[in-house]
Amino acid sequence: MTESPETQVQAASKAFEQEFGRFVRFTRDPSTISGLDLETAVAEERALAELRTRHLGKKSALAATKKLIGKVAPEARAAFGQLVQATEGRLLESLDQAEQNLRRYIAGERTARESIDVTLPGRRPRSGHRHPITLMRERLEDVFVALGYAIEDDREIETDFYNFDALNIPLNHPARAWQDTFYTTDGFALRSQTSTVQIHAMQRRGVPVRMIAPGRVFRRDTPDPTHNPMFFQVEGLCVDRGITMAHLKGTVAEFLRRVFGADTVTRFRPSYFPFTEPSAEFDFSCFKCKGAGCRICKNSGWIELGGSGMVHPNVLRAVSVDPQEFSGFAFGFGIDRMCGLMYELDDIRLLFENDVRFLEKFE
Ligand code: DAH
Repeated sequence: MTESPETQVQAASKAFEQEFGRFVRFTRDPSTISGLDLETAVAEERALAELRTRHLGKKSALAATKKLIGKVAPEARAAFGQLVQATEGRLLESLDQAEQNLRRYIAGERTARESIDVTLPGRRPRSGHRHPITLMRERLEDVFVALGYAIEDDREIETDFYNFDALNIPLNHPARAWQDTFYTTDGFALRSQTSTVQIHAMQRRGVPVRMIAPGRVFRRDTPDPTHNPMFFQVEGLCVDRGITMAHLKGTVAEFLRRVFGADTVTRFRPSYFPFTEPSAEFDFSCFKCKGAGCRICKNSGWIELGGSGMVHPNVLRAVSVDPQEFSGFAFGFGIDRMCGLMYELDDIRLLFENDVRFLEKFE
């Protein structure tokens, strides 16, 4: 038995109502939708669109009833046509209402999620600054560049030739022991002094040469308040015709005056280094107490800074420079030690721990 056209319209309407049930709440005031998360709301919007196709699309049961209009008896045709239209109108209205509210809700949720409170204080990126050792290095470089020196940089991993042999420290020389460093398995060593750059610089530039070489050096030391297995030195080298010890003394004294003040006094004490002859260590009058004696200079009035001397003829020969024609002076000292003195650090290891709370003090 085939159902009457009216029954078919009612069945189509009923099938729609059944599925539309869970969307009914969206036909009310959009504020009642609250609590629905955005992802679910978007999924519901899609489900609603599918429901529309299924119940109101071209292949829907309701669309099929429209084809019956022509087959209904003429006297009942108008009433049946109105029924189909009214039903379709009702379904459409519910659907449109739900869809509109759902869309509005989704748009609102999206705006809320993406909105930013422009009155909130921003997160300022912390700008870094140079490390105290870098600051000190740059200060030293400025002084020497002003004195006509070039800045040299070179490798931290060295062969025995550069670290020892060319610096007149042959195998079995006792100076190798106090400069014991870290060795690699391939016969390389981490340089124990920046004096290695004397050799590289002369090989590269030839002579005459005036250069300083700040850089990292390594020694097999146990860390303590005044030692670290890695630290920084500055090497200085000046080779030319007729260079004497007077040039060395004048240069070092001028450098110390420019860094520690015009009234700084420098003194030289005889010493020994394999790569210089004669050799001297240099001290300067304490910048804090001006020689009267204080904690920094350990009450001596003097601060020991580095080593120096006239370049040993063997060093010049190692780079094929004739010691009869050329002479020169060299010096070397620790940058971290200078940092420690100037900033009155009790422990130079602070410079390498890289605790931001400490480093911040040097901006
Ligand atoms: N290289 C020495 C050291 O590490 C310092 C030094 C002493 C450098 C005398 C020199 C020098 O150039 O002439 O202790």
